Amino acid sequence: MKISKIVSNIPDSPTLALTAKVNALKAQGKDVIGFGAGEPDFDTPEHIKQAAIDALKKGKTKYTPVGGTPQLKEAICFRTKEDYGLTFKPENVLVSCGGKHSLFNLALTILDPGDEVICPSPLWVSYAPIIEIAGAKPVFIDTISTGFKLYPEQVKDAITKKTKAIIINSPSNPTGVVYGRKELEEIAELCLKHDIIIISDDIYQKLTFEDAEFFSIATISPEVAKRTFILHGVSKTYAMTGWRIGYCIGDAQVIKAMHSLQSQSTSNPTSIAQEASVVALTSDQSAVEIMRKAFEKRKNLIVAKLREIPGIDVIPPGGSFYCFPSIKGHLDRFSGAHELAGFLLDKALVAVVPGEDFGSKEHIRLSFATSEDNIINGLDRIKQALS
Ligand SMILES: Cc1ncc(COP(=O)(O)O)c(C=O)c1O
Repeated sequence: MKISKIVSNIPDSPTLALTAKVNALKAQGKDVIGFGAGEPDFDTPEHIKQAAIDALKKGKTKYTPVGGTPQLKEAICFRTKEDYGLTFKPENVLVSCGGKHSLFNLALTILDPGDEVICPSPLWVSYAPIIEIAGAKPVFIDTISTGFKLYPEQVKDAITKKTKAIIINSPSNPTGVVYGRKELEEIAELCLKHDIIIISDDIYQKLTFEDAEFFSIATISPEVAKRTFILHGVSKTYAMTGWRIGYCIGDAQVIKAMHSLQSQSTSNPTSIAQEASVVALTSDQSAVEIMRKAFEKRKNLIVAKLREIPGIDVIPPGGSFYCFPSIKGHLDRFSGAHELAGFLLDKALVAVVPGEDFGSKEHIRLSFATSEDNIINGLDRIKQALS
């Protein structure tokens, strides 16, 4: 049967495909060490799971309002006030089935065919497909030569009459880069001048390391906040990837239109997951700090181990749970990261994500959302295979 034009152009998420491949190899009894996972390896904290059990027992098993329960919207406003110092009302919030779904709703709501969206590259695998589904065009700005940071001059050069939006993802997947106030102020100024919408994907907000601090572009001024859409969710912060709760915060009129779109597609996100998310966002946050500290320790370990491997260079990530080392020193043997990743899987039984999936053939992505033992053994295997 003929597949529609829109859907036949959508690639499967390569990171989810790699995780499936690793799981299939493990099921065959192969001792694979996977660095592909885009999710915390920790379990959801007990008190959050208990909230879901309680919700089930209380019969919270029916449809909820399409855009999320009033309690969850209030909880999101509370958390955003605590973490950003910004005051939003429930009408500024739409809860969806994960941050990816929030971005999907936002893209379809604000983009028209022909619009351009500025995307710093390397970038998360889903940005370009979602922009394209909306009929718009991702305009990639290469940040490999600028230490993965987007500079205002580059933004200025990329702006055209068709520029509708820009994506800021800090901390970034896959690079781990974290933007500071000064860098974002200059970009925000350009967005004000050229009437550009800012999509601020803050999903890794809570995962920053050492002196890297999260700074939200929305906090620069009320004018900037008005044109910013914050994308967030509980997946990465509370180890709740499977629960599928994400949210978008921004201009009430756009949120209302996104609500209409969601009302004709998924309707509400899962009622029980919403109840658990209220507890995640409003209860004691110490579990978040425990996980962050563990990621920081693993980050230091993986950076040190990567630095032992000849031909590999790494910029230590300021946040997220990914490292994005350069494999340039091996490109005399391999045509690109794809070939090198295939070699590592075959020869060393180590799964890494090739950088091509994020816009670079010179890098691989390693998630350190895995145990210290796996990091030590996996990196030893990589070193041996590449030496
Ligand atoms: C940069 C970025 N944004 C958004 C998401 C969406 O996460 P979720 O749909 O699980 O909330 C992810 C997940 O990998 C991500 O890496």
